[in-house]
Amino acid sequence: MSPHESGPAAGQANHPGDALENLSHEDRRFPPSPEFAAQAVATAEDYAEAAADRPAFWARQARELLTWSKDFTQTLDWSNPPFASWFGDGQLNAAYNALDRHVENGLGDRVAIHFEGEPGDTRSYTYAELTREVKKAANAFESLGIRKGDRVAVYLPMIPEAVITLLACARIGAVHSVVFGGFSADALRSRIDDAEAKLVVTSDGTYRRGKPSALKPAVDEALAKEGHNVGSVIVVKRNGEPVEWTEGRDLWWDDTVGTASPEHTAVGHDAEHPLFILYTSGTTGKPKGILHTTGGFLTQAAYTHKAVFDLHPESDVFWCTADVGWVTGHTYVAYAPLINGATQLMYEGTPDSPHQGRWWELIEKYKVSILYTAPTAIRTFMKWGREIPAKYDLGSLRVLGSVGEPINPEAWMWYREVIGGNGGKRQDRTPIVDTWWQTETGAHMIAPLPGVTEAKPGSAQVPLPGIAVDVVDELGESVPNGSGGYLVIREPWPAMLRGIWGDPDRYRDTYWSRFDNMYFAGDGAKKDEDGDVWLLGRVDDVMNVSGHRLSTTEIESALVSHPSVAEAAVVGAADETTGQAVVAFVILRGSAAEDADIVTTLRNHVGKEIGPIAKPKNILVVPELPKTRSGKIMRRLLKDVAEGRDAGDATTLADNTVMTQIAASLRK
Ligand code: WTA
Repeated sequence: MSPHESGPAAGQANHPGDALENLSHEDRRFPPSPEFAAQAVATAEDYAEAAADRPAFWARQARELLTWSKDFTQTLDWSNPPFASWFGDGQLNAAYNALDRHVENGLGDRVAIHFEGEPGDTRSYTYAELTREVKKAANAFESLGIRKGDRVAVYLPMIPEAVITLLACARIGAVHSVVFGGFSADALRSRIDDAEAKLVVTSDGTYRRGKPSALKPAVDEALAKEGHNVGSVIVVKRNGEPVEWTEGRDLWWDDTVGTASPEHTAVGHDAEHPLFILYTSGTTGKPKGILHTTGGFLTQAAYTHKAVFDLHPESDVFWCTADVGWVTGHTYVAYAPLINGATQLMYEGTPDSPHQGRWWELIEKYKVSILYTAPTAIRTFMKWGREIPAKYDLGSLRVLGSVGEPINPEAWMWYREVIGGNGGKRQDRTPIVDTWWQTETGAHMIAPLPGVTEAKPGSAQVPLPGIAVDVVDELGESVPNGSGGYLVIREPWPAMLRGIWGDPDRYRDTYWSRFDNMYFAGDGAKKDEDGDVWLLGRVDDVMNVSGHRLSTTEIESALVSHPSVAEAAVVGAADETTGQAVVAFVILRGSAAEDADIVTTLRNHVGKEIGPIAKPKNILVVPELPKTRSGKIMRRLLKDVAEGRDAGDATTLADNTVMTQIAASLRK
């Protein structure tokens, strides 16, 4: 049986009901051990306190976890929904909170980041050293004319300079916009244009599976055509490969940041000053620039990092494996661990380089105590076999986190026993926290609290204190326990997105129009008999491939932009390892079908338009697409085909022979 067949991950459905049918009953329970509970950061009282006065709960977290240069008098302003203001008249500096204040408090010698490059090179930065680097970068950016409010595009691999760049931007009030290195030059350019970025920070490249892999050429290509605002490109030398150079625009990091002054005074910015933009896929074509601001984002980032991971910053070593190109790498690599004064590991490469035990070797070497990763990685490790982690001492681990997609109960159990149980040497010792959240929510929203919550394999379970989550039916009515529906958030939360960059109407339409006065997350969910929440996958046209969000319509647009393609339909098909895989159905034009390489050509075309991460796993050439009489493509039927089932009810099709034609063409 595939790991997906028995769990809620089998859902990945377009209608919550489809997934509910597959949801097996789960009665395994894992209460916290008394030893863990006795030392836990989170307490059951947090729920009661937040329920009694939600804004007051968050105001307390904001004041306890952050240092404000000007205290706030107003916690929440929700007088103009869906536009929220949190801690509106307060001021603070994100970089000061992540760095300087720890040095001032005598923690300058604590390691902030242990970096391990894929080739095995290592660097560690203490809080004092990281503060110095960020001050230098802040001075360098300012010397290039970057001012408060300007946008900076970041196209970097997982190296410390990525964190340094983000914090330097935050320090001077510039707004960073990270573009994941797996996106193409075209995707990078459209994001640079949308944000009107003035500076790009990149590197010559990185390493992938033992080989140098380039980044700078994509920046060159992106900026080749005029009409952008980018005046300078700062280039980190990472793999030493030759790069093209545009005089007057390109600058080596070492020559600019390296030579800048290490003195820089942080000033407070308004709590609602923009901190970053991060583009994410939505239902319709163009990616949305999700906007986050400073005070509320940092408050919830810091609180959740502490409570959900049971952080003891003086002794823990935290490792979030997410790339800084995604929100997880923003909140739980660049910000929360540093705000909380923790020590973290940052690793550049893939889990199988140079061998399949690399992650476990790193955990042993750095004594990682909190590991935060995605179900797709766990399922890959399951496939590789438990003998591999068993060769290493994983005894330092004490909390395990999961994010990005539903974790199926088998993967949950394996994670707990094999990784948390140190290869079975110690059973039932390490709590798992399955964390549900989104780019838009900024920080964790639904997760068990270790030491408090009795865990259930496969369920994210409970909204965090101060977060009002519900599951509602089509009409927006709360569903009873035991039923499924749509996941919504009923009250504003500190780290909520403040909008879509440059498009307030789209913000309202996308998230706040489906149900009155509720944020619609786009996920299907179920409440079990105890009222715990199970996530069932997206209910819109967003796919989740290895925990990465991809839009079906965006990939369809990329395909039809190729001259050989007449029509295209894309679905996310269940995949044992990656959760979903991109499967495209295309109708070709004219003689294109005679081209033996057409599938490769189209895959590469999607790679060029969006990026390698969006390349379909399968492209199936078909004579027709199933459409309703109103012309809507019935993706549900295509999903059946892509997942190897007989197509379901096709009676609403305009032409009911289409599915037979498709099946016949695929048999050929
Ligand atoms: C999915 C990633 C089930 C969900 C932090 C959401 C999850 C989308 C979980 C957001 C989880 C994330 N269980 N599904 N624990 N975490 N998702 O914006 O569909 O890249 O809407 O943020 O991932 O993806 P995003």
